[in-house]
Amino acid sequence: MTSDTFEYLQSKLNGFEPDTAIVLGSGLGNFTSLIKNPIIIPYVDIPNAPIPSVEGHQGRLCAGIIGRHKVICLQGRTHLYEGMNPQFIAQSTEQLKDLGVKRFIATNAAGSLRSDMPAGSLMLISDHINFSARNPLLGAQKGASFPDMSAAYDADLRQKIKTIAQRENISLFEGVYLMVLGPNYETPAEVRMFRNFGADAVGMSTVPEVITAVHCQMQVLGISVISNLGAGLGSENLQHDDVLRTVAAAERKLELLLQKFLEEE
Ligand code: HPA
Repeated sequence: MTSDTFEYLQSKLNGFEPDTAIVLGSGLGNFTSLIKNPIIIPYVDIPNAPIPSVEGHQGRLCAGIIGRHKVICLQGRTHLYEGMNPQFIAQSTEQLKDLGVKRFIATNAAGSLRSDMPAGSLMLISDHINFSARNPLLGAQKGASFPDMSAAYDADLRQKIKTIAQRENISLFEGVYLMVLGPNYETPAEVRMFRNFGADAVGMSTVPEVITAVHCQMQVLGISVISNLGAGLGSENLQHDDVLRTVAAAERKLELLLQKFLEEE
């Protein structure tokens, strides 16, 4: 991160040291209403910050207390399909580490590759497949150059959130998230291929941040909101507006799950 960015964020946070970062994906921005007296930092005010251009992404940081944690929420992210250099996404994640973050929670909207996992479901990410042909660590100079990805999504955090989901009666699938570059949705043939690869859901985000978070030795938790069945599995054409509508309907379940998690773990 440039020293400009770090100094600006530190001055705005004014001594507040977040331990948990939560990236709120498409249409999931309302979660921050749980924070009383939040510190709000619009991305446009942050020197060198990537600005999301996609509808459903607000583009601001929102910091404060939720449950037992000092959180910093990223309301909106930039995607590689926006032409963003993956190293730039890496820098944003590294900035969080430099601010004190130890736990990284990623949420996203994703298409289901399983006909038994319908739109509106929540899926805990157990692992991912990087099908984007991009890597945020290309050219990275600092630290280990070959991070181990054999346990990228922390098993202990997964177990804890599964226990909470069960107790709260929130149905939670678990599976593998495959990242495509986008921005087009998949063809039915691609959906069949990704299913055969062993993936359960497909989306256009999260993997660059998670690779960087693992490289920074953060504990990672990831949850997808299933916004649609993958192409060819359902009868309808895929539209971004429908994706946002379905995510909005599932948002309350995800909010409750994350709220309980932050209160207890
Ligand atoms: N494919 C890729 N990305 C997505 C999808 C999908 O079906 N739904 C939401 N994001």
